[in-house]
Parts: sequence; C-alpha cells; structure tokens
Amino acid sequence: MTETQVDIRNENEGTAVEAGSKATERFTASGKLSELNVPKERVSLLAGALIKAANDIVVEHEVTYEEFNALKAWLIKVGTDGEWPLFLDVWLEHTVEDVNSQERPGTKGTIEGPYYVPGSPELATPATVLMRDGEEGTPLRFTGQFTDTNGKALQNAQVEIWHADAAGFYSQYAPGLPEWLFRATVKADDQGRFEINTMRPAPYQIPTDGACGQLIEAAGWHAWRPAHIHIKVSAPGYQPVTQQLYFPGDPHNADDIASAVKPELMLDPKPRTDGGAGEDVVYNYVLAKEGETK
Ligand code: DHB
Ligand code: FE
Repeated sequence: MTETQVDIRNENEGTAVEAGSKATERFTASGKLSELNVPKERVSLLAGALIKAANDIVVEHEVTYEEFNALKAWLIKVGTDGEWPLFLDVWLEHTVEDVNSQERPGTKGTIEGPYYVPGSPELATPATVLMRDGEEGTPLRFTGQFTDTNGKALQNAQVEIWHADAAGFYSQYAPGLPEWLFRATVKADDQGRFEINTMRPAPYQIPTDGACGQLIEAAGWHAWRPAHIHIKVSAPGYQPVTQQLYFPGDPHNADDIASAVKPELMLDPKPRTDGGAGEDVVYNYVLAKEGETK
C-alpha cells in the first residue's frame, strides 16, 4: 500500500505476517541493535549452552529425521512470517525479565512484549488516551502516585501506557485503527500523582495464522494472554520499570501463554461511585534510585 492509499480494512482483517513483520521492523529500527556488544566469551558460553541443550533433547527424546525436518521448516517460517519477536517475547522474555530484575527494589516489572511504540502523544494529568467516537468497552479511570523506596513523592515521573482495544487489537499492528489509539505518555504532577482515563482492554490471542500459531495448533496448546495494560514508568535519576497490569477473574491469568502474570500486578477495579461511567482503579509506583539494590 502506498502512503496516499487509505487502509479501509477492519482490524479483524490483519494477518500474522503483517503484525509479525511490523514487530520485526520496529525491533530492527529501535536502536536496541546499535547498542549491542556481547563479548566473545559470553557468545561462546551462551551459544554453546544453547546448542548443547538442543543436542541433549535430541538424545533424550530420540528425535527422528521427520521431526528434525519439521523443526527446520518451522524455524524458516518463523523468519519469513517475521515472528521472531513474537516467539521470543512469548516463550523466553519472562525469564530474562525475572533474572534481570531480581535485585531491583520497588514495583515489580514483567515483559515488554512485541507491541511497544516509543514516542506516544504526551498528555498532562488528568489525561484521556486517544479513543474513537463511541469506543466499545468499559471505561477505566486509572490513578496512582509515584514515590521513592522511602515513601517520598517523586517529581517529573511519567507513565507510558499501551494496550489492546475491547476486541483485542493493538494500534499500529492491526489495520484500520487510529495510529495512537490506546497509546499515551502521561506526565504526573509535582506530587507524582497521575490520572489516566481509558477503556478496559480485552483478552488477547497471539496471532494464530503465522508460525507461532502453527506451533500452538500442532502442540494442542492455546494462544491466549489474559487482558492486560502495558506500562513503562520512569523518572529522572530512577530505574525505569516495564510491566503489565491484569484484571482479577480473567480465565487466562493462570495459564498466560507468555507466563508474564505476577500476583503483584493484579488490579482491583471497583465500580465508580462519583456518578462517572465504568470503573476506578488505583495502582501506585515505587521506583528505586539508579544503582539502588535490595
Ligand atoms: C505478544 C503480544 C502481547 O500483547 C504481549 O503482551 C506479549 C506477547 C505476542 O503476540 O507475542
Ligand atoms: Fe500485550
């Protein structure tokens, strides 16, 4: 499609290849790659350990040539569908996040996933994220406050928020959605307080028509993530936190395909009592100073 053509497709008409290639393009363009510098000793150690683990599986489970060729075909398809970010973020990132946040005090993090886009519109608190006229779903008023690990209010803190719509689709990855739908950067006030008005997102199924979906189907697994709101919080001089927040009662909280749910990340929404529509939810952030450890 050229830039002057308008994408009139519905969000349901997107494909895994489309979402996957966008996730791949964004990762490649993100600047994360230009900073990479893994020393030879670590490459040898880690690549060696990975290769050994794979060889051990072949021996332990007496892998056949048919299975070896199925693996080759599937790995090729992960690449052609652009699904390496999806695959790694679903089945590996949770452990990388755990290992790397063990020593950080304060609010818990979890995986970033493949759909973060930097540079979302900056809004002052109280903020309302971009929605369409008549947006479907349950309105959610999300408030909270930033403090340091001693309980002192933080200044210049911000909340980046991104989540799916009530049908489970992300802007910039599914067709037909406004560019910054349900994506914003909200600046907290000088007491570290913020208010964000949005909608409850729906549970989300990772794309089922690409390589990752093919694996899920072939293995008899399911493709669901519980409904979640993605968050990145930061304040100058403090360690940023990337996390997701979840809703009690979601059937997939207990079997998230991406293993990214933690009890500390569960929200407790309540019906609004001030006459406003929808629900109120409070979640406070405790950030650790740069270099601060448990
Ligand atoms: C995927 C999607 C998500 O929204 C998420 O939070 C994690 C992973 C995925 O499609 O891989
Ligand atoms: Fe997500």
